[in-house]
Amino acid sequence: MSKPRLEGKVALITGAASGIGEEAARLFAENGAFVVAVDIQDELGNEIAASIGAERITYRHCDVRDEKQVEETVSYTLEKYGSLDILFSNAGVMGPLTTILELDIDGLDSTMATNVRGVAATIKHAARAMVGRNIRGSIICTTSVASSIGGSGPHAYTTSKHALVGLVRSACSELGAYGIRVNCISPFGIATPLSCKAYNLQPGEVEANCCAAANLKGITLKAKHVAEAALFLASDESAYISGHNMAVDGGFTVVNNSPAVV
Ligand SMILES: NC(=O)c1ccc[n+]([C@@H]2O[C@H](COP(=O)([O-])OP(=O)(O)OC[C@H]3O[C@@H](n4cnc5c(N)ncnc54)[C@H](O)[C@@H]3O)[C@@H](O)[C@H]2O)c1
Repeated sequence: MSKPRLEGKVALITGAASGIGEEAARLFAENGAFVVAVDIQDELGNEIAASIGAERITYRHCDVRDEKQVEETVSYTLEKYGSLDILFSNAGVMGPLTTILELDIDGLDSTMATNVRGVAATIKHAARAMVGRNIRGSIICTTSVASSIGGSGPHAYTTSKHALVGLVRSACSELGAYGIRVNCISPFGIATPLSCKAYNLQPGEVEANCCAAANLKGITLKAKHVAEAALFLASDESAYISGHNMAVDGGFTVVNNSPAVV
């Protein structure tokens, strides 16, 4: 039998109480990792941890907008498990849905505070832990199709996800010297609380809309598909992949989605 893909590795996952982060917590634990799952939805986070089992996962409150909480969470992870091999910095918000003409500037700031500033804090403190202990770790962030094209998400969200690709590339350029890989995953639309709440739709309605707009037909993108991409980037199977924004979008961002011209 082949050994579990993350055997003995220690993973910190943000936004782990719901959606993609929850699926990643389950999948990483199933694949032999010890997981510190963090979020601001404590009830959900604790329920998920209880369903996975205390021998594999610990839930902890951490608001990524607060650098102190991020720093304490990294320290807690090192004390509890003695290492930090994987950071899946996945927590994110959709932000305001206004037009650019009515752009909510405070909403832009708060979207950036979670989606960029918060991720930067997690990279900073996780990388410090890795560099200080000579850990050749893997850092993975969740971007979006809105990280590479305009018009596929709200303005503040699109701005934040484009910025996040810059952060990942920049961190990759420095951390390569320590053997640390930094990548991101760029999913197409998925029915999670983030998308359902933002558009006030039921999961089935979000999935129907996404399937209608998708390039790849005959399959509905699920949070589990994104968690599987994160598992690959976390594992040694992606040993030489760094600085990559891995699209999990069925080709959506590389094809012309307008009506065919030929
Ligand atoms: N659902 C989609 O269609 C979609 C598509 C592309 C990218 N994404 C990205 O995937 C990531 C995960 O989103 P999801 O779809 O699983 O949504 P979700 O709402 O199910 O999960 C996001 C989690 O992040 C947590 N969170 C939000 N702000 C936080 C903070 N300040 N500190 C800590 N945790 C915080 C939330 O409480 C929530 O549990 C996000 O970065 C999102 O932008 C989602």
